[in-house]
Amino acid sequence: MSEFNNEIWFVGAEMSPLVKAGGLGDVMGSLPKFLLRAGINVRVVIPYYKNIIPKNLLDIRETYPAGRVNFGEIPFEFGIKTGFAMGDIPIVLIEQNHFFNREEVYGTHGGVCAYKDNLWRYAMLAHGTAYAMKILGMPLVVHTHDWSGGFVPAVIRQTFGDKKVSVNVSGSAEGILSGKLSRSVSAKGLRPAIAFTIHNLGYQGVYGLDDFYDIGLDFKYNSSDAYEHFGTINSLKGGIKLSDIVTTVSPTYAQEITDSRFGFGLDGELKNLRNTGRLRGILNGIDLDYWNPKTDKLINYNLNIKNDGYGIKDYAEWKKFKLNNKKALFSEISLPLKKDKDGKILPLIGVVSRLTEEKGINEFLDALFNWNDFPFQAVILGSGKDYIEGKANYLAEVFKDKVFAQTGKYDEALSHKIYAASDIFVMPSKFEPCGLSQMIAMRYGCVIAAGDTGGLHDTVSDITNPDAKNPSGILIQYTDPNGIAWALNSLYNIYASGEESSKSAGKEKEKNGNRKWSDIVINSANKHFGWEDSAKVYEDLYYDIIK
Ligand code: ADP
Ligand code: GLC
Repeated sequence: MSEFNNEIWFVGAEMSPLVKAGGLGDVMGSLPKFLLRAGINVRVVIPYYKNIIPKNLLDIRETYPAGRVNFGEIPFEFGIKTGFAMGDIPIVLIEQNHFFNREEVYGTHGGVCAYKDNLWRYAMLAHGTAYAMKILGMPLVVHTHDWSGGFVPAVIRQTFGDKKVSVNVSGSAEGILSGKLSRSVSAKGLRPAIAFTIHNLGYQGVYGLDDFYDIGLDFKYNSSDAYEHFGTINSLKGGIKLSDIVTTVSPTYAQEITDSRFGFGLDGELKNLRNTGRLRGILNGIDLDYWNPKTDKLINYNLNIKNDGYGIKDYAEWKKFKLNNKKALFSEISLPLKKDKDGKILPLIGVVSRLTEEKGINEFLDALFNWNDFPFQAVILGSGKDYIEGKANYLAEVFKDKVFAQTGKYDEALSHKIYAASDIFVMPSKFEPCGLSQMIAMRYGCVIAAGDTGGLHDTVSDITNPDAKNPSGILIQYTDPNGIAWALNSLYNIYASGEESSKSAGKEKEKNGNRKWSDIVINSANKHFGWEDSAKVYEDLYYDIIK
């Protein structure tokens, strides 16, 4: 504990495939893995959700003496365990059965019915993290995530002081962040550098100010320079205020959140940060090994090609991939394969989503309800708000032979099958910090219909934009039922007018914005959403805050 270790600690509430409620889990699972492979010393700190984490993915090596924190008058003990996740990712587990041994991560219905004690649960994560540093040695950087990681910066400052480590050596990010430090750096009176990533400004961890006495934090953090926000405790705000650098998960979202339409009351803070160069937008990647149509064990038919799945121009193989996966999925869920009047199989729309207002699925369901004899089939997987789940189930009941819905629970295997079988993936979000589902869907050869916002804007290239390069879908400006119907109808017309592109006609048609289905599928499948570029940007950012 007397010296800094050359390590970066990721702290968050989820880590896929151990435990996942949404995209945060994907990022916490895939970015550390990528950095590790690039030679950076990374550890991931998460709560030990014993009920949720499959035992076979964990290799616990050490258990350390318990730590203790007072929440108000009540002392709580917690444990620290270390080991490896998924074989070789170093992990620190914060064990506190009362808070973390639950059936769900944040609460039921995709977290919509949140556990009432989430404030204390995630304050516990922060105290556990600081205690683990005392025991295991200090990392140079702590990279904490979202409102659930928002108390980490305060607990670190309270425990180790406000003065930040400075390695003060010349060199490159690679040289300093991998291998051993060339000289020892004493940790006396210093804290690690802190990076904070906002994955979604719509969830800020807001609680009553009275509870500030009860989360083991000095009362000085109850100020507008830290967690106080209009008379509430706001975990995300404190995270922003007390970190050395703040990032969010796409360049467009980093712009949007400085505007009051997207800022959820924190746009002023974020504008200041941006103006002082402390807010950066870095696009997420996905784990291309896990999400790989050629090797995915959860789908029924794998892509049968020689290379890694990129650079293929063979539409026939994609067509086979889609049809075989569709047939297998339909037989599992008892949906008949329907054809249109010309004998063409109806395109399948896929949805894999949290069912909250922001995702626009409510409006998508209305679009289908309003549409007399819609020329699609649809498979919907999601959990969230009761009324949206209810509407999805009702649609499936009314259109039994066209729509299937499974709501209320998380289903990893079904999600893979939907990505593999769908022709169109729908994501009409009102805002979307990054969005991983559309990237996964493109990797599995889906054409995208998405809201024109945040990471969707940055990753989907729009067929209606004549200047767009290699369009992979359609971006919707107004994601009301009409806007969504317009987009789906445009895609249907392309699909119905013939799939294959004739090489000579192709160029002329492209100029007119009139694309062929096969070209869009191939474009989509060839978009590369790995971590290579963004991981490099993170490395530079870590380096910036420790030097
Ligand atoms: P968000 O994090 O806002 O929910 P993202 O698009 O970033 O949105 O990530 C969503 C992730 O969660 C994707 O990996 C998606 O496949 C997955 N997902 C969402 N809902 C479910 C569900 N009910 N079952 C399985 N996976 C789901
Ligand atoms: C959040 C956002 C989503 C993003 C994910 C991972 O859950 O809603 O857009 O992709 O975090 O950063």
